[in-house]
Amino acid sequence: MKITFRIWMQDGPNSAGEFVEHAPEGLAPDMSFLEALDHVNESRILSGQRAIEFDHDCREGICGTCGVVINGRAHGPLAATTTCQLHMRSFSDGDLVTVEPFRARAFPVIRDLKVDRSSLDRVARSGGYVSTNIRAAPEANSILVPRHAARAAFDAASCIGCGACVASCKNAAASLYTGAKLAHLSELPQGKIENTLRVVRMVEAMDREGFGSCTNTEACEAACPQEISAHLIARMNRQYNWARLKSLGRKLT
Ligand code: FES
Repeated sequence: MKITFRIWMQDGPNSAGEFVEHAPEGLAPDMSFLEALDHVNESRILSGQRAIEFDHDCREGICGTCGVVINGRAHGPLAATTTCQLHMRSFSDGDLVTVEPFRARAFPVIRDLKVDRSSLDRVARSGGYVSTNIRAAPEANSILVPRHAARAAFDAASCIGCGACVASCKNAAASLYTGAKLAHLSELPQGKIENTLRVVRMVEAMDREGFGSCTNTEACEAACPQEISAHLIARMNRQYNWARLKSLGRKLT
């Protein structure tokens, strides 16, 4: 199939970038999108040019490392699909496909399509630890977890931290990511102990990292490859406001 790629290239964080066009030969509909980019890079290397850099690891939709904006949509045209799980059959012969990095103030470009998403790690880390007793594993039925809570925690924990929610948000907010990271702990009895402190720390870390504020467009939910629900944002905001109310009159550290 014949596809023309228009790919963002930028030498470094402070360099000017530009789109370069490539129309590689030999693309097949069953190639993954990343294999098509590999194909572009092979032809560039054979002609003495440097490879275009992009992030990837598992290529199985698990790790959250891949992520580019394809024709204006984070991870491309398919719902609930990471860039690495997208295939060229999702495009038509003769298409012009524009490929850009995730753009957000908190995701500075490293090179070409690679961005630094360590701001998400710092938000998660700011939440601190979950208290738990060590030594022998407790009897499994000593802490009962209702089925609905286990399911909700698991759904939230399926967030792979790719940052598509940030890239798709007009405010570059990380509220869906943070809401998911909070919910996968706070739904469970073990995670409730430090929940108040955790919510305050993580919400305030989002601001420090330069993420924008959520204005409830829910573009994040539409772009999320794991289909994390935007109701977790409302849950996080409710918990944050409650935590701040409770802290009135005493210092929350
Ligand atoms: S490379 Fe791991 S999710 Fe895409």
